[in-house]
Amino acid sequence: MSRRTLPLNETLYEYLLEVSLREPEVLRRLRAETARHPRAEMQIAPEQGQFMALLVRLIGARRVLEIGTFTGYSALWMALALPPDGRLVTCDVSAEYTAVARRYWEAAGVADRIELRLGPALDTLEALLDEGAAGTFDLAFIDADKASYDAYYERALQLVRPGGLILLDNLLMGGRVADPSNREPSVEAIRRLNEKLCRDLRVDYALLPLADGLGLARRR
Ligand SMILES: C[S@@+](CC[C@H](N)C(=O)[O-])C[C@H]1O[C@@H](n2cnc3c(N)ncnc32)[C@H](O)[C@@H]1O
Repeated sequence: MSRRTLPLNETLYEYLLEVSLREPEVLRRLRAETARHPRAEMQIAPEQGQFMALLVRLIGARRVLEIGTFTGYSALWMALALPPDGRLVTCDVSAEYTAVARRYWEAAGVADRIELRLGPALDTLEALLDEGAAGTFDLAFIDADKASYDAYYERALQLVRPGGLILLDNLLMGGRVADPSNREPSVEAIRRLNEKLCRDLRVDYALLPLADGLGLARRR
């Protein structure tokens, strides 16, 4: 028994995956290919993908926004959880990374549910607002450059409907946020955002110690 979150050693982590992970074969293959990528560490953990897919189903999401596609692993978990007429809009700057994503979305049979917008995410979010998409998304997942997280969060708050959910990845930054001597700009940006999120009365909020720290902000 414990009144605080357990630290996970390798044995316990392997056990957790063994008794809970239901990763479809196509996602397992994408994760295996991404593991050979020089930036493999950017991909979310499989148990996080499964949790996010559960959230998509729990809130009955039909429209999902993602900021940070990479090789498409998180997008694919969420797209597979959408109804057939659901839609996921995902943003990235890299045609190279997202070429991998497109192959697996095709293989999984959900490419028609996914719209990839290439370009700086802030421009894409502004374009969505200009197109009248405010309040039309059920869920947004933020997982791109840390310096812009606050700007992405503010746009996401406009783009999700009241009751919609914003997920923010990497809020624990490998533990570096809790080290006050660490002044890396990305760490400072997330530290400031963590403080803001805790006080932000526009949302209901929780920060889960899942993977690298996943924030859940429900727009009030
Ligand atoms: C952490 S990875 C995303 C991982 C992905 N969600 C997954 O689980 O596989 C971050 C991605 O953000 C993209 N990125 C970085 N800066 C960006 C920007 N200004 N606009 C859009 N995408 C950006 C990078 O190209 C990279 O693919």
